Amino acid sequence: MMTDTPPPHWQAQLLSAQKAARRAGELLRREFLREKTVDERLAHDIKLRLDKECQQLIAETLCADWPNYALLGEEGGSGGDVEWIVDPLDGTVNYFYGIPLFCVSIALRVRGTIELGCVYAPMLDEMFCAVRGQEALLNGRPIRVSERAEMAQAIIFAGHGSHDGSGEAGMRRFAHLSARVCKMRILGSAALSLCYVAAGRLDAYIEQRIHLWDFAAARVILEAAGGVLEYTPADAAGLAGAVLAWNGHLPLHETLSDCP
Ligand code: IPD
Ligand code: CA
Repeated sequence: MMTDTPPPHWQAQLLSAQKAARRAGELLRREFLREKTVDERLAHDIKLRLDKECQQLIAETLCADWPNYALLGEEGGSGGDVEWIVDPLDGTVNYFYGIPLFCVSIALRVRGTIELGCVYAPMLDEMFCAVRGQEALLNGRPIRVSERAEMAQAIIFAGHGSHDGSGEAGMRRFAHLSARVCKMRILGSAALSLCYVAAGRLDAYIEQRIHLWDFAAARVILEAAGGVLEYTPADAAGLAGAVLAWNGHLPLHETLSDCP
């Protein structure tokens, strides 16, 4: 039967992103309890062989469906006018230590605007996704940010960072907020934490230095769920910077304004 309804915007691309995220997630789930090959170990970070293998799997899946799109990922690649932004394993340290809080994150950015994102947490089988301007979904059901407007009731993620002296300022902010909110949390995955704000599980997320691939997909999900995200780039390319994200109701700026 013919219909006049145009196909919903970006749905085909979103399906490809979800397919790629599930494939990478399946690999991560399968390997979760096995011994892992460490490619690089830094003071506060780990790079696993699997990070690269997952990105390769994602790239192959997306490229088969959209051969002309560029791919910029944590494990390499370069951008273009229409580009996938991929974090194949966000929460690598959690993953390495056997903590099941990690995810695969895939966004599509078109001439600077993030049009869609999906974040898949394989161990919980939770798929967060959104197309810009449409509703945010968790496993197909709509999600919204929390209504909490008082700091005293809020649960807040505040990462303290480990880069360029951001650690000390972050610790002061953490202490300042701890005295004013219900609970503080550091989950170890930026993308998942932002999706938790989108789903009303957390009320705000603050981190001094994360990368574009850590939050690109989650940003569109959070905004579609009614949340707010402010990004202050730390470099000219805009690939790393500070993120302040919240449910849109908490007086976050006011609370931070007198932080030492
Ligand atoms: C890290 C996680 C972590 C954040 C770091 C990121 P990775 O990503 O998102 O929560 O604090 O800044 O680098 O290395 O696990 O992909
Ligand atoms: Ca990451």
